[in-house]
Amino acid sequence: MPLVSLKEVLDWAEAHNAAVPAFNIDNIDIAQSLMLAAEEEQKPVILAVGQGAIRVGRLDLLASVVKTLAARSALPVVLHLDHGASFEQTVACIRAGFTSVMFDGSSLPLRENIEQTRLVIKAAHAVGVSVEAELGAIPGAEDGIVGNGPAKVSVAEVEAFINGVDVDALAVSIGNAHGLYKSEPKLDFELLRSIRKLKAQVPHLVLHGGSGLQDKVVRSAIQEGVRKINVATEIRLAYLEGLRATMDSRDIYTYISVARSFVMNVAKAKIQLFTAEEN
Ligand code: G3H
Ligand code: ZN
Repeated sequence: MPLVSLKEVLDWAEAHNAAVPAFNIDNIDIAQSLMLAAEEEQKPVILAVGQGAIRVGRLDLLASVVKTLAARSALPVVLHLDHGASFEQTVACIRAGFTSVMFDGSSLPLRENIEQTRLVIKAAHAVGVSVEAELGAIPGAEDGIVGNGPAKVSVAEVEAFINGVDVDALAVSIGNAHGLYKSEPKLDFELLRSIRKLKAQVPHLVLHGGSGLQDKVVRSAIQEGVRKINVATEIRLAYLEGLRATMDSRDIYTYISVARSFVMNVAKAKIQLFTAEEN
């Protein structure tokens, strides 16, 4: 089926008290494995293209792969730009057929983040594409992005932002971080509750840094209203583990099938956890 917007799948998540995973894709194998996992679980999926893949010239290539995979499937699939670095990059992605773009203005002063995000929304919403914004530059490093903002956003900052911007999804830093956690993260669910209680229309909330979070932490985040959870590092490591496991087979299709099974296993477990009835 045709690609769908981020808003469509997050509305589904809200109605089912679930979260939809946003998996970063870096090559065809990973994209195909993630799609196979979503097919086996029969759940919506967000396939995200990040700055690492874009830096090595894969924006259009991966967009074509995702469009082909979605066309072969009956599942709702979102093609999403992760941590969009500029207004121009988001427009290039819209032109390439993305149905969702993140503009990451978290390292900008609040006023500038609002202004820039508004611009992206004007272009994206004009053609039915969803927009995700970010408040509080999420700590950790990912695809060359080093988050050095405060570990947490303030409720006042979120209120000022959502009063100024009509965004479809908002990534907030509540103690989460990119990459593997060095110690058990303490996500601030009290802060999440305060954000959800704001009078203004609160957009769907997004949790970045999904790799390495314990199941109980993920369940609590979903209970507190998180509707999109980003996972990149665990997927990448699974792929590399798969390649390493077959290194001496010296047969490329053995490499690929084992690496894909490693990725599929991680992705299926995440989809099951994020969409479990008991959440
Ligand atoms: O934007 C990508 C995600 O936030 C991935 O975070 O690598 O810690 O899973 P992660
Ligand atoms: Zn992220």
